[in-house]
Amino acid sequence: MSATATPFEATVALMPPPLSLYIHIPWCVRKCPYCDFNSHGLKGAMPVDAYVAALLGDLDQDLPLAWGRTVHSVFFGGGTPSLFPPEAIGAILDGASARLRFAPGAEITLETNPGTAEHGRFRNYLAAGVNRLSFGVQSFDDTCLKRLGRIHDSAEADAAVKMAQDDGFDNINLDLMYALPGQDRAMAEDDVARAVSLAPTHISHYQLTLEPNTLFFARPPRGLPDDDDAWAIQEHCQTMLADAGYAQYEISAYARPGRQCRHNLNYWGFGDYLGIGAGAHGKLSLGHDGRIVRRHKPRHPSAYIDAAGTPAGIAGEESVTPPQRPFEFMLNALRLLEGFDPAHFEQRTGLPIDSIGAALARAIDAGWLERLDGRIRPPPWASASTTTWSVCSWPEPTTSVPACNASRGGIIGPCSSSSTWRVPTAARTSRPRSIPATVMPSTSKTVRCAVDPSRCCCAFPMTARCPP
Ligand SMILES: C[S@@+](CC[C@H](N)C(=O)[O-])C[C@H]1O[C@@H](n2cnc3c(N)ncnc32)[C@H](O)[C@@H]1O
Ligand code: SF4
Repeated sequence: MSATATPFEATVALMPPPLSLYIHIPWCVRKCPYCDFNSHGLKGAMPVDAYVAALLGDLDQDLPLAWGRTVHSVFFGGGTPSLFPPEAIGAILDGASARLRFAPGAEITLETNPGTAEHGRFRNYLAAGVNRLSFGVQSFDDTCLKRLGRIHDSAEADAAVKMAQDDGFDNINLDLMYALPGQDRAMAEDDVARAVSLAPTHISHYQLTLEPNTLFFARPPRGLPDDDDAWAIQEHCQTMLADAGYAQYEISAYARPGRQCRHNLNYWGFGDYLGIGAGAHGKLSLGHDGRIVRRHKPRHPSAYIDAAGTPAGIAGEESVTPPQRPFEFMLNALRLLEGFDPAHFEQRTGLPIDSIGAALARAIDAGWLERLDGRIRPPPWASASTTTWSVCSWPEPTTSVPACNASRGGIIGPCSSSSTWRVPTAARTSRPRSIPATVMPSTSKTVRCAVDPSRCCCAFPMTARCPP
């Protein structure tokens, strides 16, 4: 079966998945040198009122995509949403809940920079309706924080989390990054230990990625751990997190029982979301006509404010065609250790599972996927060694050399036949016998991609990544 020969006919009725709402706040006190998010260092006062009005106008324009549906989670991301005062966050939530039905107990998360914490402020966010905070701690080592250009030190991070707990927040995520410039394994482990000691419900543990269009990409900092060291850090920290009761459920996400991030789970389950704010993206399934639509908004804050709610406020919109859906579904679902239920594949893509039956069978034969308890998931050895399996161009897995992407966001680029990728020694040695040596070579650290860029399938350890 090949991608072109397969008749991808959407013969199953789309059953709209849970709906989430993403709200982007695009400003930060200062731009961090590693960050490629749509975030802008503050150059004066933020136009808070104008932005709140723009968000609600933007939402009004998106509403026909979500008539009658219920919002199960809201995520204020950025940027630094905690720069917005609680009153503004409350006004956005009031406006959104006047327009859309919110499920009782909907998860409402606010991304928070510890450098913006003030006494009393957290209580007011809670009163405004926020019930989950996600702190961008990154590290508890002051030298690392300086090298990362952060505006806070470790004492401030510690104090901010405790303040939020004192103010009544009982659902808190801490973002940590590892493989930092000058960081060794002991330092990374110390970061995890310090995070665990604060008893958050969730920890995100991201490998620092040098993203194009960042200062770190243009001028990589000195002292970055090599891939083997990064791999060792990851494996040891993973064990520490598991021992402390944080179960890994996704590439970078660890949670106490029942405290997985519901909003992100919906993304990874190929769920639906409205995206409002500068540069925000949305994805909606339209059950009545079987279309799946992606829509995004102007990236620059001032252009966004000017255009929101008008036709120019939609910077782009496209349909996800039936042949594109299996790939998009897998790209998300295979980030999860538990994989996916084939019934969800059918309900959320509109395609019968048989349309990818031959490709699935080949991937299972090759040991890239397995069936367990009615689900299809990455094999345990892959999750045990946190190998990231991304199926780039479903449904044409090949047993040739894999390619591309393994980083934090899991967003793929096309394979290139001339690029090389480094595979950490540990990943090579943990390769099970069922995986052909061509997939993870046992003799060389460098894998050369020899696959047709449009039809490659990639299965990659997290620390392997495309070179600059
Ligand atoms: C939008 S930021 C979150 C919150 C807030 N702006 C802050 O930085 O405190 C989301 C998280 O992504 C992670 N992140 C950002 N850039 C990254 C990169 N280049 N590599 C790995 N993780 C990154 C950081 O852990 C960060 O906290
Ligand atoms: S990492 Fe967070 S604080 Fe730093 S620039 Fe990016 S969004 Fe802003």
